[in-house]
Amino acid sequence: MIKIRTNLINPISPDEVQLFKDYVLGYDDGIIKLIRPYDPERDKDSEPALDSVIIPGLVDLHTHLSQYRARASYQPSLLPWLYEHIFPAEARSKDPDYARATSAAFFKALFAAGTTTAVIYTAPFKQACEIALDTALQLGARVLIGMTMMDANSPDYLIQKTAQALDDSFDLFERYNAKDSRIGYIFSPRFALSCSADLMKQTADFAHRHDAYIQSHLSENEDEVAQVKEIFGKPTYTQVYEDFGLLGPKTILGHAIHLSETEMDILAHTNTAIAHCPESNFFLKSGEFPFAALLDMSLRIGLASDVAAGNSLSMLQQAKFASYRQSSLSLTPQRLFWHLTLGAAKALGWQDRIGSLQIGKEADLCQIKLKAPHEVNEQLLSALIYLNEEFPISRTIIHGNTVFQS
Ligand code: GUN
Ligand code: FE
Repeated sequence: MIKIRTNLINPISPDEVQLFKDYVLGYDDGIIKLIRPYDPERDKDSEPALDSVIIPGLVDLHTHLSQYRARASYQPSLLPWLYEHIFPAEARSKDPDYARATSAAFFKALFAAGTTTAVIYTAPFKQACEIALDTALQLGARVLIGMTMMDANSPDYLIQKTAQALDDSFDLFERYNAKDSRIGYIFSPRFALSCSADLMKQTADFAHRHDAYIQSHLSENEDEVAQVKEIFGKPTYTQVYEDFGLLGPKTILGHAIHLSETEMDILAHTNTAIAHCPESNFFLKSGEFPFAALLDMSLRIGLASDVAAGNSLSMLQQAKFASYRQSSLSLTPQRLFWHLTLGAAKALGWQDRIGSLQIGKEADLCQIKLKAPHEVNEQLLSALIYLNEEFPISRTIIHGNTVFQS
């Protein structure tokens, strides 16, 4: 068993975290086996790391691997940004060498940021998605990955034939979904604007038959919402997804900003999960996430980088943006931490496996170096979020395997 003598911060609920000073955390076979106060007699064999704190590995609920090299492409409005920067950037992943290099660079940066679980879009090319899945498998990442599907209103160089997008996705699901306990496939119809009714319906039917995950974007930008309502002739954007059967407990929707109360009701009663992308919402001037209203509805919410509309893969940085993004709602450090860890695990339905430091859970850990004058006290969690640039991630562990060490 590997034993580390360190400090721990553990989420219990949106309002409560535990702070354990000078503890020993032990893991074996990928599973946490020991959490107790340091005992000089029994813990002589522990690795000394009192100058650090261990938190659960961070969760990024929505990010685009194939956009990794297109970060910081300035154009603060969703649709022009997609056409000017992102669609051409994703087209580059048609080249397998580019896709391979981008996948390697993305996971390296993801682990260096302390993220152990990520929900990932790739590009609308089957091979690029295979490369991302193979890279994740090889590196031991915990991921849901999908091939971005787009068969309508899209540039010629990206658009897929409906049947091909479906067949490719079904094949990827069948080959990869159960390949490793850490790897899953997620059906990824990009957003209603780039998908036909047929594509969305058939994706939803297959996913429900196979109890598979689905992800998409919802109500991110006002021009996008207006176009969706016009194309599909529905009263709301959410209604489009509901009518095609895309909503449910294994669906994760990014953004969800411009929503009526009726739409929030639909999301709540279908138990759809939400990925909140705070930096992205700043970058593209998309609007303010209705955090308070969605919390009132008890929706499951996790935070997300949304690279490349978000520029940072640091989830602690995203927590800071989430706090700043709310013009009046106060989000405590405890609550922000919840949405990065156990709350995000709940959004995935994985709260029994990951998301907190608990004996029997998988050893997905993020170790952060402390330096004077930061004390291990009640202010530490707040400092990790608001001063995250000053706290280097020193080690990232997934299922007991060290995937990053500084
Ligand atoms: N909506 C549809 N596609 C995208 C994307 O790639 N990024 C963001 N932020 N929104 C989208
Ligand atoms: Fe996105």
